[in-house]
Amino acid sequence: MKENPSMNSQQLFDRSLKVAPGGVHSPVRAFRSVGGTPVFFARGEGAFLYSVEGDRYIDFCQSFGPNILGHRDPDVERVLRETVELGWCFGTCEPYSLELAELIQSTVPCAERVRFVCSGTEAVMSALRVARAATGRAKILKFEGCYHGHADSLLVKAGSGLAGPSASDSAGVPEFIAQQTLVCPLDDESAFDQVMQKHGAEIAAVIVEPMPANYGLLMQRQEWLEAVVAGARKAGALVIFDEVISGFRVAWGGMAERSGLKPDLVTYGKVIGGGLAVGAYCGRADLMNMVAPAGKVYQAGTLSANPLAMRTGTATLNKIRSSGAYEVLERRTKRFVEELNAILKPVEFGATQMASIFWIHPQTQKPIRSLTDLPEGMGQRFGSLFHTLLSKKIYLAPSGYEVGFVSLAHTDAILDEALGLIREAVSELR
Ligand SMILES: Cc1ncc(COP(=O)(O)O)c(C=O)c1O
Repeated sequence: MKENPSMNSQQLFDRSLKVAPGGVHSPVRAFRSVGGTPVFFARGEGAFLYSVEGDRYIDFCQSFGPNILGHRDPDVERVLRETVELGWCFGTCEPYSLELAELIQSTVPCAERVRFVCSGTEAVMSALRVARAATGRAKILKFEGCYHGHADSLLVKAGSGLAGPSASDSAGVPEFIAQQTLVCPLDDESAFDQVMQKHGAEIAAVIVEPMPANYGLLMQRQEWLEAVVAGARKAGALVIFDEVISGFRVAWGGMAERSGLKPDLVTYGKVIGGGLAVGAYCGRADLMNMVAPAGKVYQAGTLSANPLAMRTGTATLNKIRSSGAYEVLERRTKRFVEELNAILKPVEFGATQMASIFWIHPQTQKPIRSLTDLPEGMGQRFGSLFHTLLSKKIYLAPSGYEVGFVSLAHTDAILDEALGLIREAVSELR
């Protein structure tokens, strides 16, 4: 099936390079870390993406996480079409954000108040502003390997020496901003304690991905997470769980539910919009009521809570909730990853799984929990595996540091088909 015989990915990418930086609108899409030309996709349906050349790929990227039901879920699509008939951008009060906010508030204990924004980046940036206002402190602490979007104060890497001055990861971030962010290694209670002892009284918030999934899937120990929450509280700093990936993905209440820990503030994105542009920051009522117009922390947005995103989000969450989705997703993904591990073993790769998230990485003796556990040359080794799988029409996110997502549209039969194709690919690699 040809989607459009007059188009091919190479030509489209050549044109894109003349109009967008690096040819893309978000860096990983450019295939820089795996090499080669990005595939251009014309449409998505369930577990599949169809390239402009007309090839069908089994998609394990799923838009980097939002599509928990797969592409173009029919129930969500129906709501989307209905909403289009109502108009899609009012800039007024409307009932649609109320419905989604009430759904979140009534079912997620740490979300006493909810504010919708348009992206995860915006949610995190705004939550930090609340934390700074509430504590009167300027510094924040993050963990190496956690990604929290592209706000200036979060594009920061550890400096030399524990709690030494941090440096920015990106050009264009002034040093004085980077220096307000302290960076600690994951999986290391004593490093965290040392930093908190030295700087605890200056720290407004400790922000963490409770299940770090942006540098591979770096599964943390429950004791470590508990120590982080306790250490922050002891210092009078707020705890922010960044659940942009894990929220409504690993469980309804995300990692807060799975860990039994209650952050002061929590950020969401991805799944809560069902594929449209949404983020949210939520938390304790006393903190969230500091946000304008209830309080003095300013934050606003022309497109915030637009009806299309709100109703798509609500339809997505309602469907997950009513279909016992988490059990199904977890069971299917667990079996898939167990078989994947057996298939990948001869080429010295393995896979780690949490709920419906998985990560393919070079085999290691022990679990990979922090950046220092990452195998040497990981990116390069992943590149050749990625391209062999791509040639079999398996689409993974184009970087060894990105995780894979199984959606509800990935039936056992589709996962079996994927396993068969991966088996073929691996036999060619050996
Ligand atoms: C944990 C986490 N926080 C924040 C963000 C930023 O979200 P967005 O890309 O919607 O700005 C991401 C994006 O991948 C994320 O994974």
